[in-house]
Amino acid sequence: MENYTKNVDKFLFSTKGAIKFYLRKATIEDAKPIFDLSNENLVRENSINQKKIMWENHLKWLPNKLCDNNCFYLLAFTPENLFIGQIRFDVSEKETTIGISITKEFRGKGLSADILIHSAGLFFKNYPQVKNIVAKINKDNEASLNTFIKAGYIYSHKESINNNEFLVFKLVRNNEN
Ligand SMILES: CC(C)(COP(=O)(O)OP(=O)(O)OC[C@H]1O[C@@H](n2cnc3c(N)ncnc32)[C@H](O)[C@@H]1OP(=O)(O)O)[C@@H](O)C(=O)NCCC(=O)NCCS
Repeated sequence: MENYTKNVDKFLFSTKGAIKFYLRKATIEDAKPIFDLSNENLVRENSINQKKIMWENHLKWLPNKLCDNNCFYLLAFTPENLFIGQIRFDVSEKETTIGISITKEFRGKGLSADILIHSAGLFFKNYPQVKNIVAKINKDNEASLNTFIKAGYIYSHKESINNNEFLVFKLVRNNEN
């Protein structure tokens, strides 16, 4: 198991699999790649709020998220700095939710479970009070279901949100986190 550091401004490489990646915190300079990825059809279709995002709204939303202590926003890149994807944890009193999206270019390459595993390690290190992470996955989103199961998330229950059925999976903090 990795020895996760609290400092995510420093690069963290993972060498499992053919493609290496590192994770770092998102910054305002990442606004455009985050916007493009978040607005892709497949990403919107599989989100709880499926509406397209407007650039102006994104520019208001993102700075708020980045300075919100209840949001842990990570991006994944190749060692050559190609953007692989985003992982966002939102902490609230009720629960901590996670979302992931991978760019078209890097989908289907078996990267996402490793990215989820390393992201959760960093998250738990930075949020010692949080005991588990919840993923709400559209029941038809097979790639996502497979990914979260592979990363150790366990099925909990169903939830109907905005007339769509989501399967709720949980990752519980273990002794290593
Ligand atoms: C969901 C997502 C993050 C998965 O990432 P990915 O890079 O495509 O997935 P991976 O290549 O790592 O594959 C993960 C698993 O899903 C399977 N998988 C990948 N694409 C699939 C598809 N279209 N249908 C069914 N299974 C699929 C893989 O075979 C793999 O399982 P395996 O290890 O048992 O073979 C990515 O597809 C994505 O960004 N989708 C759009 C946004 C989204 O749906 N986010 C999740 C919201 S909860």
